[in-house]
Amino acid sequence: MYSEEKDYILDPMVGSGTSLIEAKLLNRNALGIDINPEAVKLSNDALEFEFKNDCIQKAIIGNVKELSNLQENSIDLIITHPPYLNIVKYSDGKIEEDLSSSGGMVKFLNDIEQISKELYRVLKPNKFCAILIGDTRKRQHFVPISHYLMERFLKSGFILKEEIIKAQHNCSYSNRWGWKAKKYKFYLIMHEHLFIFRKPKENEDTSIFSWSKYREK
Ligand SMILES: C[S@@+](CC[C@H](N)C(=O)[O-])C[C@H]1O[C@@H](n2cnc3c(N)ncnc32)[C@H](O)[C@@H]1O
Repeated sequence: MYSEEKDYILDPMVGSGTSLIEAKLLNRNALGIDINPEAVKLSNDALEFEFKNDCIQKAIIGNVKELSNLQENSIDLIITHPPYLNIVKYSDGKIEEDLSSSGGMVKFLNDIEQISKELYRVLKPNKFCAILIGDTRKRQHFVPISHYLMERFLKSGFILKEEIIKAQHNCSYSNRWGWKAKKYKFYLIMHEHLFIFRKPKENEDTSIFSWSKYREK
């Protein structure tokens, strides 16, 4: 919905390559980046299937925080799915720049802010950046990672087009946490957030959506 055939799509935390496979099926050019060489191999292997299309899809090793090989205003759509803090450790802490290796929330959110600025730089004006992100609990209380992330993206200049709630059922998490939830009286988290941000057009008046407008001065 947010891209056209032959567009250039970026997934800078590509994991096992789902977005690249979809790009191939939908005739879009797509670049996947991941800090973990194993993810890059998985993604490129997953693209080895016969399907006629006129575009190129590939994955390379890189760090989402430094996309210096990509020009500003060059990407038609960004779609990505960062780690949720350190809930799943993608490289078992072996790769320092892996966001899921980062110690705490403050470092994670500062990294997210740097990433949001980099994504804003490379995206064309009036195009979309989709981020899938979940929340967590600490000591039985809800930690809204998604809301904190959204605020950093708004601060970097994006405006919010949609917040789509993705329901999750029957995840392995339910078995692990089900009994605790009953005992300590809290709800299991069974959704993720898909934020669709838009980079404003040049000279667009965004004051009506502006993040800074609603902040205490
Ligand atoms: C939630 S997974 C992505 C899953 C993906 N959507 C899929 O279909 O498999 C997050 C990915 O971010 C990658 N990652 C973590 N830190 C990164 C960084 N600094 N630069 C690029 N990729 C990073 C991890 O290696 C992991 O593959």
